[in-house]
Amino acid sequence: MDSTNRALTGNFAPISFEADAPHLPVLGELPRGLNGTLYRNGPNPQFPPADPAQHHWFVGDGMVHAFTIADGRVSYRNRWIRTGKFLAEAEAGRPLGTGLGPPPEGVPDSGVANTNILLHSGRLLALEEGHLPIELDPRSLATRGAQDFGGAIEGPFTAHPKIDPITGELVFFGYSSGGPLVPRMTYGTLDRAGRVTRFEAFEAPYCSMVHDFAVTDRHVLFPILPLTGSLPRAMNGGPPFAWEPELGGHIGLVRRSEGIASLRWFRAESCYVFHVLNAWEDGDKIVADVMQYDAPPLFPLADGTMPEADRSARLVRWTLDPNAGTDAFSRAQLDDLPGEFPRLDERRAGLKNRFGTFVARSEPEGSPDTIAWFDLAAGRRTLYTLPAGDAASEPVFVPRGPDAAEGDGWLLTMAWRAAENRSDLIVLDTDGVDRGPVATVQLAHRVPFGFHGNFVAAENLP
Ligand SMILES: [Fe+2]
Repeated sequence: MDSTNRALTGNFAPISFEADAPHLPVLGELPRGLNGTLYRNGPNPQFPPADPAQHHWFVGDGMVHAFTIADGRVSYRNRWIRTGKFLAEAEAGRPLGTGLGPPPEGVPDSGVANTNILLHSGRLLALEEGHLPIELDPRSLATRGAQDFGGAIEGPFTAHPKIDPITGELVFFGYSSGGPLVPRMTYGTLDRAGRVTRFEAFEAPYCSMVHDFAVTDRHVLFPILPLTGSLPRAMNGGPPFAWEPELGGHIGLVRRSEGIASLRWFRAESCYVFHVLNAWEDGDKIVADVMQYDAPPLFPLADGTMPEADRSARLVRWTLDPNAGTDAFSRAQLDDLPGEFPRLDERRAGLKNRFGTFVARSEPEGSPDTIAWFDLAAGRRTLYTLPAGDAASEPVFVPRGPDAAEGDGWLLTMAWRAAENRSDLIVLDTDGVDRGPVATVQLAHRVPFGFHGNFVAAENLP
């Protein structure tokens, strides 16, 4: 492999095996109330890319890592997701295509299902925003196949759907629906039982990479920000996605009760957001807490050069007032700590939340080595930084019990031990994140840097 491609080195490099480990060693003590399975998803190419220089981190085949915790003990299993592409390449014994752009003739356009994984209506869904969800068996991790909910939906499906904690409804969208790099989008809902209750299409002001969106108990916000997709530009050898700040941003606001018929647009100065922490209603106003960049990392300007800007995200509060007679809205930075992968106590999704978390860097150019826990009501944060050189993943919150107060529980995150070149699952108590892990689950191998995961409590595992 080409050691100059960062996506193939260090803890970005894939691992080459699937394993079952029935009893992992634990340092410290796992809380007795912590029972269930943490699923994490990320890119892990099945074969070394034919042209390592061309390889992009985002296109690797999805691999799921599952840690099942029961009565203080932990078992582990990892499996590749058997997408159509994965199976075709397994049959060929080599990579077919680069993973960038449409697949070559004869290779299914299945996507790689590598971005997120969550349980809804008894289905464990591996998600990647360009394609339908891929359903897995929650225990064996065997791939069951693409899920189109009885043929009721089609096309791209976000990796960041929101589940309404009151109704159990899942709210989702897709972008570039109906063709590559087009401004058409879809919006839909699944009820608690997994029946499609809404599936509508609309036109965005331009084609943009819409990685995440915001949902309150009454509204949906679609951030259309100027990381644009352009097929003509790509056909002319330019970047398929590029930063065009001069276009400004648009926020689409929809009432959940009415759907796309109620769509109206707010305008934003140019900025970019990959991830939303939460959104909620404040009287007649709508609030969204987002990780906002001046300009997105990893993407060039339309001419192919990289923009000069601070490429770190910070927690920023957007407040929209639909009754103010303007398409403007206000933005206020809540904290100056650069970070990414924001999460909350999901029991407050769409409702006013007090607590949140994300992974931060203790040094501007260093690894993401710090877990930050925020009390937004008190304006306080607590930090835990890993030993020098180690790196953390997205923190996932688990409540101490079904009736625990908001934010009372644990944060689960992967820690890459750089010096030992292996990974631990660490458990932090939210009542003292800065005290460091209460338990450390040791793996003999690495869990490569991935994207997102979720915890499913034992009583909810099908
Ligand atoms: Fe994401």
